[in-house]
Amino acid sequence: MTTGLALLGCGTVGSAVAEMLLAEKRHLQERSGQQLELRHILVRDKRKSRSRMVSKRLLTTNAEDILADPAVTIVVELMGGIEPARTLLLRSLAAGKHVVTANKHLLALHGAELFAAASKSGRCICFEASCGGAIPIIMALTRGLIANSIDRVIGIVNGTCNYILSQMSANGQSYAEALRGAQVEGFAEPDPTFDVSGIDSAHKLAILAALAFGMQVPFEKIAIRGINDLDDLDLKFSRELGYTCKLLAIAERTTGGISLRVAPTLIPAKSVLANVHGPFNAISVFGHAAGQTTYYGRGAGPKPTASAVIADIVEAAMGTASLLFANLPLLTKRTKGQFLPSNQIVARNYLRITALDSPGVMHQITGILGRRGISLSAIAQHESKAGAYVPLVITTHEAVEGDIAKAVVEIDRLKCTKGKTVRLNIIDPAA
Ligand code: NAP
Ligand code: HSE
Repeated sequence: MTTGLALLGCGTVGSAVAEMLLAEKRHLQERSGQQLELRHILVRDKRKSRSRMVSKRLLTTNAEDILADPAVTIVVELMGGIEPARTLLLRSLAAGKHVVTANKHLLALHGAELFAAASKSGRCICFEASCGGAIPIIMALTRGLIANSIDRVIGIVNGTCNYILSQMSANGQSYAEALRGAQVEGFAEPDPTFDVSGIDSAHKLAILAALAFGMQVPFEKIAIRGINDLDDLDLKFSRELGYTCKLLAIAERTTGGISLRVAPTLIPAKSVLANVHGPFNAISVFGHAAGQTTYYGRGAGPKPTASAVIADIVEAAMGTASLLFANLPLLTKRTKGQFLPSNQIVARNYLRITALDSPGVMHQITGILGRRGISLSAIAQHESKAGAYVPLVITTHEAVEGDIAKAVVEIDRLKCTKGKTVRLNIIDPAA
């Protein structure tokens, strides 16, 4: 039997999906047993130049062509953003069509509404491509690790930021050059601010944490910091200390609730995550029975994403996705969780203070940290001219984030310091 498909969007990802469906039709049929027929592609502008493989007759600017076509049983949303994607998916579900989407932004903010609509209409929503590009992390959390109570998910989930950090560290590229490269390669979001500000990673963390802990994850519970205010100097100092700086997304079960954060973080240079380069992602999941499992692969780019989208299309066409959606409470029935405020997170810190190189300065700074019970693990300062302002790098043992933040405010008020102290978390991802 043939399954009729419609794509909403034919941009970076949509084009790759359309090309694979058209060029690899036979291969897909041989491997999956599914005969897939691409019937429509919704776009904004039919005159735009596109892949030669995509026939103009497939293109439409009218979503009604798709919603009204009974032969379309799966709608694949690759347009991005909230509206009109949200309304079109709600209408597709109401019209009895299954949904495949790569839109983490939409799922992180409106997932509950969409999943409820899918349950009501007896249809499914598949979203493997929303997190980790080609990595089957949604499959791992919903199937492979279903027996586990999960305590921690930690990963590099934004290919653009990882590519930028890798290009800056290994190839000496500037931030702007590296971001441009990520856009040319098709890793970046249509608005790359989502990538570099950490928001895209937070969208993915909201989806992964909801699956890991079986909880509703309000997006505003995630503490978010991106790589857009990182200084080259901190990449250099962290290397000197034996760390690598990565944008990490972390969800942890703590006694005070689930803690959720996205931030540039220092990890030991020899750790697995430190050695994930370019657009690759890696996600470690810690389950009570499985222990640590780590998933690695291309996290962004048209073809890796198309690989995940097509896997979802095949599962929706076969009916396995509907079975899962109807029977797995983890997908549709989530409890309300308790979340740890970000100022109560306990972590090690890297501080770069710009301080006068003169007698008594170190005493004032360490005194502030000491009075708040913050214990130091290292202090580093390059040799300099006496009386000059120099970067003073301090690493701490574990401390409560709120205490560190208050200490930094005090340090920045000292007459012997200038500018704002840079603060980064340090973690051991395998701990
Ligand atoms: P994109 O290049 O901007 O493509 C968006 C497509 O949607 C375009 O074809 C556009 O039509 C169409 N579109 C947008 N608004 C529309 C509207 N109002 N009506 C009709 N058509 C509309 O975006 P993308 O980079 O492919 O990203 C698509 C989705 O995949 C996003 O949710 C993104 O987060 C997600 N994603 C991307 C990656 C990646 O590696 N890039 C990986 C995983 C997930 P026109 O062509 O006529 O402008
Ligand atoms: N812009 C995203 C990234 C695409 O760079 O990771 C994959 O979700």
